[in-house]
Amino acid sequence: MTTILRLDASARKSRSLTRTLSTSFIDQWREADPTARIIERDVGTNPPSLITEDWIAAVFADPEELSPEQQALIAESDQLIGEIEAADIIAIATPMYNYGMPAHLKAWVDQVVRINRTFTFDLARGDKPLQPILSGKTLVMLTSWGEFGFGPGEPNEHANHLTSHLQTVSKYLGVDDIHHIGIEYQEFGDERFAASQAEAHAALPVMVSGLVSRAAGQSAA
Ligand SMILES: Cc1cc2nc3c(=O)[nH]c(=O)nc-3n(C[C@H](O)[C@H](O)[C@H](O)COP(=O)(O)O)c2cc1C
Repeated sequence: MTTILRLDASARKSRSLTRTLSTSFIDQWREADPTARIIERDVGTNPPSLITEDWIAAVFADPEELSPEQQALIAESDQLIGEIEAADIIAIATPMYNYGMPAHLKAWVDQVVRINRTFTFDLARGDKPLQPILSGKTLVMLTSWGEFGFGPGEPNEHANHLTSHLQTVSKYLGVDDIHHIGIEYQEFGDERFAASQAEAHAALPVMVSGLVSRAAGQSAA
């Protein structure tokens, strides 16, 4: 059985393009594979807490020696990491805000990329001391941009701090396979926007059927 963590990061509940993509993604997956388990995490309307000095001290402390207050302080992080551990697929639906990810989503990243839970740190490894603990997960990025041309080799590639950032940190969540479908031109509202929306929604079933077939092959093997 495949477990999907569906994470929505748009602050908008209505008219959200990224929520439309994640809803279609989940609906299509359920249709192809009714046994899939879906975990829903809406950071757009329910942002995780920002980390604090006490939080950092607690995650670096010996887990055996945590005080009840420290355990309470990292309980939210424990729960969010548990959702990632359970997931085969992490589907992040996110807008670009100010050329990067929404603060809501960054708060989630800071809660879940955690020493000795999702990565280890050892200076014996030389200049690359960080190593992921989790593995074998797929990241699906479902994005929307008001502008356009943020892809590789395109004019605004240098300003894309959204998918590049997610790709970098996802390594520490056990991701080793990444897929991306995005809508561009939202701010222009013209025919390019309509075409981009149509293209993204046409790409979804192709991606879903590929991932569902692969998951079925893995569970049969
Ligand atoms: C606060 C805010 C900041 C934004 N910053 C950018 C930006 O830097 N670059 C861009 O291309 N679009 C930007 N946009 C446009 C959004 O990425 C676009 O409207 C997207 O469709 C929002 O996702 P949603 O439809 O799921 O809510 C911004 C929108 C908002 C509300």
